[in-house]
Amino acid sequence: MSTLTIKNLHVQLENKPILNGIDLTVRKGQTCVLMGPNGSGKSTLGNTLLAHPACRVERGSIKFGKHMLSKMKTDEIARAGVLLALQHPQAIPGVSVTNLLTIAARKFPQPKNFKMAHFRQEIKDTAKALHTPDEFLSRSLNEGFSGGEKKKMEILQLSLLPAKCIVIDEIDSGLDIDALKLVAKQISKLRKRGVSLVIITHYNRILRWLEADRVHIMHKGKIVKSGTSALAKDIEKNGYAAYINE
Ligand SMILES: Nc1ncnc2c1ncn2[C@@H]1O[C@H](COP(=O)(O)OP(=O)(O)OP(=O)(O)O)[C@@H](O)[C@H]1O
Ligand SMILES: [Mg+2]
Repeated sequence: MSTLTIKNLHVQLENKPILNGIDLTVRKGQTCVLMGPNGSGKSTLGNTLLAHPACRVERGSIKFGKHMLSKMKTDEIARAGVLLALQHPQAIPGVSVTNLLTIAARKFPQPKNFKMAHFRQEIKDTAKALHTPDEFLSRSLNEGFSGGEKKKMEILQLSLLPAKCIVIDEIDSGLDIDALKLVAKQISKLRKRGVSLVIITHYNRILRWLEADRVHIMHKGKIVKSGTSALAKDIEKNGYAAYINE
């Protein structure tokens, strides 16, 4: 069972405490939503899961199944099946979307019957499902892409690599409502495959198409409230005031 287990996680950025004792469990196939005011540490948590070099783990642990992620390097964590869709995706000039994916696919453990020709077709099919024209696949990743196009590229990559647990950081910012629906449906397909999801968001709207098992509210580097999807609806309507003590 590949359960993600975060225990008493304390993280500093440039000697400043940002995460102050996070405890979180996400079981295989579960969808967990993380909400919280700007600056509460949501992206820092996502970045720490993937061992961003700026995130210094001071105390606590992150485990995924048998893997102790908090002692592993980013590429090892990715190969263990834990991937991150960035809040601010980076451009990689000179590397096309297809090149990046075909190179990445070879670095991951793949089933014995893996065929590159079939994988190339899957790239095209997934792009089509996201209403992304083929021409994007031969362009440099994210170079000159609009905000929404970059977000679609993040989901395209996560869909094609052998993910077991994915952290999706504010995929809904920058997407128009039709694009959000397409992206949410693509994420649902991953969920049906048994992928665990950690969805970081400010809005309830993505949850129209994705059922959340748990919703957690972060504030000042801690989880201050946990509940069901009703909690996300309440936050969207009434804000955070009832859940955070300034
Ligand atoms: N390099 C850094 N040095 C010091 N503090 C930093 C650094 N990078 C980020 N921070 C601070 O860490 C805190 C948490 O940032 P983080 O990006 O995790 O918040 P967030 O919850 O994702 O916010 P948002 O909803 O706006 O995306 C913020 O107060 C931010 O200013
Ligand atoms: Mg953030």
